[in-house]
Amino acid sequence: MSTLWRHARLATLSGIQPWGWIEDGAIITAGEHIVWVGRQQDLTPALTGDIDAEHDLGGACVTPGLIDCHTHLVYGGQRAHEFELRLQGASYEQIAREGGGIRSTVAATREASADQLYRSANRRLHALLDEGVTTIEIKSGYGLTLETETCCLQVARQLGVNHALTVRTTFLGAHAVPPEFDGRTQDYVDAVCSWMPELHAQGLVDAVDVFCENIGFSLLQTRQMFETARRLGLHVKLHAEQLSDQSGTQLACEFGALSCDHLEHLSMAGVQAMAQSGTVAVLLPGAYYFLRESKLPPVAALRAAGVPIAIATDHNPGTSPTLSLLLMLNMACTLFRLTPEEALRGVTVHAARALGLSDRGQLASAQRADFCIWDIEHPNELAYFFGRNPLRQVVQGGVEVVL
Ligand code: NIG
Ligand code: FE
Repeated sequence: MSTLWRHARLATLSGIQPWGWIEDGAIITAGEHIVWVGRQQDLTPALTGDIDAEHDLGGACVTPGLIDCHTHLVYGGQRAHEFELRLQGASYEQIAREGGGIRSTVAATREASADQLYRSANRRLHALLDEGVTTIEIKSGYGLTLETETCCLQVARQLGVNHALTVRTTFLGAHAVPPEFDGRTQDYVDAVCSWMPELHAQGLVDAVDVFCENIGFSLLQTRQMFETARRLGLHVKLHAEQLSDQSGTQLACEFGALSCDHLEHLSMAGVQAMAQSGTVAVLLPGAYYFLRESKLPPVAALRAAGVPIAIATDHNPGTSPTLSLLLMLNMACTLFRLTPEEALRGVTVHAARALGLSDRGQLASAQRADFCIWDIEHPNELAYFFGRNPLRQVVQGGVEVVL
């Protein structure tokens, strides 16, 4: 099935033009892929001869499908009460040390059935889909037993089966130490390492992540888990330098990490390590905002060093309960001073790279035919508006998705 999408204004994010802009453009898709992108006037009869269907987009703006490359979408309960506690002066670390935080969501996740976990994650997923997300990364990390982590990863995979989107799963067993391992962090790290082969054998893991932090896991423990991942041929990522500088980034880069995420406290040495290993910096303005952080990630240094910058929701019940990737575009600009074009690249081409995917994120021949059709004049409006959704239509794998 070959389809022509014509009379569109294209932000291809490919080539050297700002935005990869094509003013009066067209796309030809065949099956799940793009086979041609260019100016309408360059369409030749040879190109359009075998077209089965045609859509006139009436001058609408088209971008690659959005990619949310860092979420914790599957969990039980929510933590509005902790938000209230923080408003009364308690800090995120304090709440975590007193058994709230991640641990309270772990308790709620363990209590929930697989069906309940699926239904609540499904509701959240729909909010993201409604704004044009066509690929999403979903981390485990609120089960912290082999059984519950397996269940959460299965729920994530099932969401991908039941919706027109790609799900990439990340095993984040090293999110927190569960209560049954109190005072025995090393034993828990050993347990996490022992679960990895089994989860991998079941096809449930695309990458391994660790929360490397003074309230999370140490550098040495992170290294042990990364070594286990490497033996299994799994990609690694890291929650790095979010609340303090642990130099986790340098370690992750030693392992060729796909991405280091958060990075508010990243040092210059960390920036250099990322530049050398080609690791993507995933910035998470939702968590920065919701925790009322004041230390900004070193955006200018990352930019100067040529480190690709991605943006994601970090959707989770504790530090970033947002379900709007479009809002993150706005916040990446207002809070982190990204340009609107950098922000859009951050949720498309760079987000794809943060997931190790080279077949998406741009409108170009041989890329997946995942794209969004927006009722806007220019893509800079995606970062400009907040609380407004101009999405007209999503095309996923060459097929129009019913939203
Ligand atoms: O990405 N930093 C660790 N993990 C989450 C927060 C998890 C939680 O508080 O439930 C994050 O910010
Ligand atoms: Fe996170």
